[in-house]
Amino acid sequence: MTKILGISGSLRRQSFNTALLHAAVPLLGEGVELDIATLHGIPLYDGDLDAQGQPQAVLDLKARVLACDGLLLSTPEYNNGIPGVFKNAIDWLSRPASEIKKVFGNRPVALLGATPGGFGTISAQAHWLPVLRALGTRPWFGGRLLVSRAHQIFNENGELVDEAVRKQLRDFLHGFSQFM
Ligand code: FNR
Repeated sequence: MTKILGISGSLRRQSFNTALLHAAVPLLGEGVELDIATLHGIPLYDGDLDAQGQPQAVLDLKARVLACDGLLLSTPEYNNGIPGVFKNAIDWLSRPASEIKKVFGNRPVALLGATPGGFGTISAQAHWLPVLRALGTRPWFGGRLLVSRAHQIFNENGELVDEAVRKQLRDFLHGFSQFM
């Protein structure tokens, strides 16, 4: 069984980025499973807090990363960049630095994202690249998924209702699964 951990970078209940991960579940190939994580409960990074021992929510997320064969980061875009909430969680996971290799080293990572805007999180995804490189991950560049006009792609229940995007998502997942 190939295990993907999908992390949504939005805390919003009706997040398009969380919905995108849920939409991926029925599209996975045989022998592939997707665990979906959100960032609820992860505090703002504080070196003093870190020195007292990592918060349980961070330890739990780290355990899920360690258990996966590949990471799927579903990123919103804020002001043409990475939302602070998401970067904050990855920063926690990168501590202690002595564990970066174990947590991120050579770990396959794919980026995708959804926005009601017209550019599909392209800037946020580009901003992730130096972070993924710094952590020594193995990013997958074989496909791209930039979901624009997300309010028309998902219905009010967060269900994917666009067949073209469903196909793109299926192809994207297939490509990433082959890469892992
Ligand atoms: C946004 N949004 C946004 N969208 C975009 O395509 N490019 C951008 O630069 C920004 N900037 C931005 C800044 C801030 C502070 C907020 C709160 C929002 C809109 C954003 O894509 C939208 O709120 C999405 O719905 C966020 O993703 P989730 O929560 O639906 O997953």
